[in-house]
Amino acid sequence: MKKVPSGISPLIAVDRRQRIPLQRQIYEGYRSAILEHTLRPGERVPSTRLLAGELGVSRIPILNAYAQLQAEGYFETRVGAGTVVSHSLPDEIPQFWKARNSETRPRTRSPRRLSRLSSLLPTGRSVLGRGPGAFSINQVALDQFPFRIWNGLILRHCRRPSMDSLNYGDAMGIKELRAAIAAYVRTARGVRCEAEQVMIVSGSQQALEVVLRVLLDPGDSVWMEEPGYALARNIFLLHGCRIIPVPVDEEGLNVAAGVKLQRKARAAFVTPSHQHPLGVTMSATRRLQLLEWAERSGAWILEDDYDSEYRFETMPISSLQGLDAGDRVIYIGTLSKVLFPSLRLGYLVIPADLIPRFRVARVAMDISPPVFPQLVLADFIREGHFARHLRRMRTLYAERRQVMMQMIQEELGPEAEVLGAQAGMNLSLILPRICDQEIADEAARQGLWLVPLSASYLRKPARQGFILGFGNTSEEQIVAGIRKMAALVKRARG
Ligand SMILES: Cc1ncc(COP(=O)(O)O)c(C=O)c1O
Repeated sequence: MKKVPSGISPLIAVDRRQRIPLQRQIYEGYRSAILEHTLRPGERVPSTRLLAGELGVSRIPILNAYAQLQAEGYFETRVGAGTVVSHSLPDEIPQFWKARNSETRPRTRSPRRLSRLSSLLPTGRSVLGRGPGAFSINQVALDQFPFRIWNGLILRHCRRPSMDSLNYGDAMGIKELRAAIAAYVRTARGVRCEAEQVMIVSGSQQALEVVLRVLLDPGDSVWMEEPGYALARNIFLLHGCRIIPVPVDEEGLNVAAGVKLQRKARAAFVTPSHQHPLGVTMSATRRLQLLEWAERSGAWILEDDYDSEYRFETMPISSLQGLDAGDRVIYIGTLSKVLFPSLRLGYLVIPADLIPRFRVARVAMDISPPVFPQLVLADFIREGHFARHLRRMRTLYAERRQVMMQMIQEELGPEAEVLGAQAGMNLSLILPRICDQEIADEAARQGLWLVPLSASYLRKPARQGFILGFGNTSEEQIVAGIRKMAALVKRARG
């Protein structure tokens, strides 16, 4: 039998002042809720005793109404399951009921106006780069996460929670986690910060939202990498910013081109360690140019350091924030690419003098991040599980990446150019003489999910190809997937 939510009372209003008997009111209330699909087949209804207490009436009219509903087949009673809405009722709402209700319901005549800004967001395809099977982009090996350890830590905090952990938390996040993150980004990423500058957020997406609320106004221009990260683009659009797409080449965002397009932009959003989606690393020259532009024009730099944990050929490259002497860079990190994305935890590193402004904005937005996941994560880091998991994943992703590179070489030969394989969990495969969207559509029909590179461009795509994730893709899936993709590419080229 289907599992059902238990004993929640539907909104049934009874009014003793009415001349309609209580029993009839309760019967009508339930019947309407069932026919309108507010209550669905299999859902449990509260016991007569509970409902009597909630409605403040005696049990007698409720017992009578329930008996009537049962006799007419709206309710059924099963031993151990209490009274539930009959499973045998149709899922569709009967036509006569719809017709009756449409006559009685008032028609809306005035237009239902939505915000202008939300209408700017594309509602069609998902931009998360997540699909079934192989090649999901920027996705971790979900089956490798040490859930036994994680669950143990959850139990530790939930068994006997402190009173503090049940109350609203600090808007910036809990002290222990902020200290652990500060120590991590200082050592691993060359970020210059103290724990007080760290704000815990629900992923980099919320980090951007907080940043936007504090630093930018609707109408402000923002440089965005082209091609670039669509979800970041969307949050800027939702805030009313003007997007200035600035081309990316082998050295990262082309600062000179940005200056030509819009010198007076108020901010630049960049992924310098591993540009999304091309994967290039921003050169030292470009980093210095970008910092100089920001200093001169009074602009902010929003550094999204989303997957810098994985670097396969050289030493990790320090963050842009670490080079910044003018407090122009806001550093954004995420745990989605190290632990798992549904955790929804990330962090911001804020220039010290801006902490009060960020704090009040955060209180206005959602008061504070949830406390329990932070407690668990702080222990996970402090007790060494984080570092151990990261080391294991680096080895695994390096192996998967190796297989992918070899397969591309074997199946597509020298005409295929690979970008961005030196870091992260995906690479960009540049393929001349194809239409990547057409091939992706055909691949989807054959059960293979490919992310076309062209989808990451706001303007006319300068390159065609695919973004291929290997983090959550096994070696067997890589071999079979690349073979299938290569066959589709060859067929499309004729
Ligand atoms: C460029 C980029 N930044 C950040 C993220 C992580 O986002 P979040 O922390 O909101 O999960 C992703 C995830 O795919 C990404 O591709």
